Amino acid sequence: MAKLIAKLDDVTMRYGERVILENCTLDVVEGAITCIIGLSGAGKSTILRLLDALRKPDSGHVYVKERDICHLPESELVAMRSEIGFAFQFAALLDSLSVGENVALALREHSSLTNAQIERRALDTLESVGLAHTYDLLPSELSGGMLKRAGFARAVVTNPELVLFDEPTTGLDPIVTHLLTDIIKRLREQLNATAVVISHDLHSIYRMADYVAMLFEGAIIEYGPVHEIRRSANPIVQQFLQGSEVGPIPL
Ligand SMILES: Nc1ncnc2c1ncn2[C@@H]1O[C@H](COP(=O)(O)OP(=O)(O)OP(=O)(O)O)[C@@H](O)[C@H]1O
Ligand SMILES: [Mg+2]
Repeated sequence: MAKLIAKLDDVTMRYGERVILENCTLDVVEGAITCIIGLSGAGKSTILRLLDALRKPDSGHVYVKERDICHLPESELVAMRSEIGFAFQFAALLDSLSVGENVALALREHSSLTNAQIERRALDTLESVGLAHTYDLLPSELSGGMLKRAGFARAVVTNPELVLFDEPTTGLDPIVTHLLTDIIKRLREQLNATAVVISHDLHSIYRMADYVAMLFEGAIIEYGPVHEIRRSANPIVQQFLQGSEVGPIPL
């Protein structure tokens, strides 16, 4: 059995009256890349928020490194989050800070490094995503693909054990998508970390995923190694992978 670094166990989660996740269970295998697929609005980003304890489930459990994070005091959650990197769906850099300062921010808040060490680490991390030359630029001066890479740098600058990527390639051209996919693979290897990636891009998923989980109507309906998911006999999974209008998914 593969070792898990995180797990959603029988999670139900509502926003107001609306049930977003219902009895949802997801395994996150340590050291692997797990891609979550599913329709827009299905609750994929919500799963990442649960893993980072930015949201709490209404029932069920969320485990990270064998600890149930739903009942940890805020002080322990802050420590736990420092082991998790989050590359947000909309890069979410602070407009008024330079790209370098955005990347350095987590180190300024959570580490005892000196100023010079922090700047060195932020620059090295930007370099690892090919953006060393953008240190002094403002986020508004970057292209969409560069913003995503800066978001990656910010997510990994603390050497997290688990990195969450929310739609890292959405809206980008195929070449940049390919580049970002390879950066995710490389970062995961360099950090010896685990990655959970939400993606709609099937080429990218087939290129990077070890495991794929499909979220549909509140639950993970299919989960397994990527080559098994591609061959899945589940008609919902096949309709999704083929992007077909014909099938059991209500349009
Ligand atoms: N803070 C919130 N308050 C109320 N409803 C919310 C909130 N956040 C998300 N939702 C709703 O919950 C549902 C799931 O949202 P979520 O962002 O997890 O979906 P998603 O699968 O990531 O979608 P997308 O592919 O469009 O990013 C959506 O219908 C959304 O409108
Ligand atoms: Mg989302």
